[in-house]
Amino acid sequence: MNDHDTATGATDGERIAVIGSGYVGLTLAACLAHLGHQVACTDRSEARVERLSAGDVPIVEDGLTAVVREGLDRGRLAFLTDNGRAVAASDIVFLCLPTPHGADGQADLSFVLTVADEIGPHLRRGAIVITKSTVPVGTAALVATALGRDDVHVVSNPEFLAEGTAVHDCLHPDRIVIGADSEPVARRVADLYGPEGAARAVLTDIASAELIKYASNAYLATRLTFVNAMAELCERVGADIGSVTAGMGLDHRIGASFLHAGPGWGGSCFPKDTRALVHTADAFGCDLAVVKAAIASNAEHTTRIVDKVAAALDGSVSGRRIALWGLTFKAGTDDRRESPAMVIAQGLIELGASVHAYDPTVAPGTVEGIEVHASPMDAAAGASVLVVATEWPEFATVDLAELGTVMAGGAVMDARRMLDPTAVADQGLVYLGLGTGHTQRAAALAV
Ligand code: UDX
Repeated sequence: MNDHDTATGATDGERIAVIGSGYVGLTLAACLAHLGHQVACTDRSEARVERLSAGDVPIVEDGLTAVVREGLDRGRLAFLTDNGRAVAASDIVFLCLPTPHGADGQADLSFVLTVADEIGPHLRRGAIVITKSTVPVGTAALVATALGRDDVHVVSNPEFLAEGTAVHDCLHPDRIVIGADSEPVARRVADLYGPEGAARAVLTDIASAELIKYASNAYLATRLTFVNAMAELCERVGADIGSVTAGMGLDHRIGASFLHAGPGWGGSCFPKDTRALVHTADAFGCDLAVVKAAIASNAEHTTRIVDKVAAALDGSVSGRRIALWGLTFKAGTDDRRESPAMVIAQGLIELGASVHAYDPTVAPGTVEGIEVHASPMDAAAGASVLVVATEWPEFATVDLAELGTVMAGGAVMDARRMLDPTAVADQGLVYLGLGTGHTQRAAALAV
């Protein structure tokens, strides 16, 4: 008997091990179980394995708890800490391990290669080892070496899950990219994703598969950097970025998605992946100036939000109470890694402001010097300026009359363009828009 058999007996799916139960590994494991496979998902944390085995999912992801519990209830999903044991019972092994970027931007592959070295001796003959984490071009060859086996296959199958929609993205992918040296092996990986996924399989060489992921994320980040740069220009020329991107998006070559101006891009992927791609390119003597410029421009754009807040207060936020709605890097997730909202908060604190915030995923208390409140209005009470930093839907329907009362004047920096400028101004508040000519030239506020 092995882990798969003990889980629940026969199945017509594959026997799969997923190493790493972070937001990628856990989502993938649960979705593969949902698709009918027998999945053993591992994590080095005993406590995390115990929580997951009880159906307690420590990640805020729409639908993830339900699909994990479905897998557990059907006996198609099991959690354990022992990587060797998990792979010994599997024909397919996914590596879903962290690949953080070092100070120089290079992706840290130590987690991936350490696990590859560990599981090598336990792999079944003919096993397929799949790199799912975002890894630089050439990683599959390093994994093959670390495995120390000549009777297994190494395949690149990068993930394209966006936080907040990871389950949907996994079950309804735009494409399944598979880099392999053997077409039959590639086909077998494509078939893991069911008919819908297999129909969207893109089979290619390993290097191209590894690069498709980085190129996609770097393009999306650069696209947003361009939109935010146009937003800055709109403010200067009195145009409105919402109208500009609406007009742009009607061009089928541009498309309407991913054109929303905001406080800059962040999260655990774009910053990491853009830096890693630049590092790879530099290592091969290729100067990715366009991506380097996007990284720099994005950082400047976020800092400009802090400058605009200071400008609204006669040039200084020192000793002022500034409110922040949203701390996560985007709505739909509890992830604050490299969040523009956190960058803005830290910038304001460094200038002497006291920052009070509300975020639906953050419990009241103090987080990195930020006073977190239980409601948007509690955070905004008495603030000289309110910054809307994350696009949580509840912010679009707040009672602006109540906001006007609790703020008693002051300004609203709508960095996610969620509020109606006129309705805000009607409450005696100065509306500081992003990328809009509606931005009232904010005189220094005597507040
Ligand atoms: C991204 C990619 O979308 C996904 O395919 C990949 O697998 C992982 O990296 P994620 O980082 O979860 O996903 O978030 P995403 O939705 O791409 O947003 C990234 C950043 O761009 C966020 O800070 C978000 O607020 C910002 N953004 C996104 C905008 O400012 N405007 C937009 O129109 C879209």
